[in-house]
Amino acid sequence: MKLVFLGPPGAGKGTLAAKATTLFNAPHISTGNIFREAIAAKSPLGVKVKAVIDAGKLVDDAVTIELVRERLAKDDVKTSYILDGFPRTIAQAEALTTFSRVDTVINFDVPDSVVIERLSGRLVCRKCGFNWHKSFNPPQKDNFCDECGGDVYIREDDKPEAVKKRLEVYREQTAPLIEYYRSKGLLVDIDARPQVDIILENLKKALRRP
Ligand code: AP5
Ligand code: MG
Repeated sequence: MKLVFLGPPGAGKGTLAAKATTLFNAPHISTGNIFREAIAAKSPLGVKVKAVIDAGKLVDDAVTIELVRERLAKDDVKTSYILDGFPRTIAQAEALTTFSRVDTVINFDVPDSVVIERLSGRLVCRKCGFNWHKSFNPPQKDNFCDECGGDVYIREDDKPEAVKKRLEVYREQTAPLIEYYRSKGLLVDIDARPQVDIILENLKKALRRP
């Protein structure tokens, strides 16, 4: 099953994808995680995109499309994947149709107030990328990830100014994908306000998965 996880920043795409990847036996591909790994490694890609990402803006389409095109050419994603954070513009969605056929697009719906609450408390593991939350899902040991022992940090783009920018960018450039995919009959809406396990159950039902 080839899935796209769509939704505003902080909707829970990464958190849900980390669980759904095992449930659906579908590799999780997060463009945000790929960019953050490149930034941490100070690779040419990382150096190129750091300032744009920290400011809450989008990396340009050509760079992002090429990255995903290369990733989707690998053998492990021939029959299934979860694309988290791609496509994010109509141009990216159009490009995707030239190298892969998506089965379903999940639109994780949450109001801005929930986004702000979630992003202002997010802690991310530097090693495995797991998304913790200071109040909703804190790691047992302060500052360390329960999953892998890595240290946790606050994303530069989770600062209030960058979150504001990301929400604007989402509305202008990404939200039009909702109607784009709905008109193609590919969209499933999921309420992303409840607890993670409830959202996952609703997702399984919507995809008719046991
Ligand atoms: P990316 O990393 O994709 O960021 P995003 O889309 O803004 O989404 P987030 O990762 O912030 O949120 P999420 O929905 O994954 O929520 P999470 O599960 O962490 O992209 C980062 C940047 O990279 C972009 O701004 C852009 O610059 C660039 N980029 C990436 N893709 C690109 C593309 N295609 N084109 C161009 N540029 C691109 O959850 C958030 C918090 O809430 C966590 O703390 C979590 O523990 C908590 N939480 C989650 N679910 C729940 C729940 N149900 N109840 C309570 N708490 C919850
Ligand atoms: Mg994410």
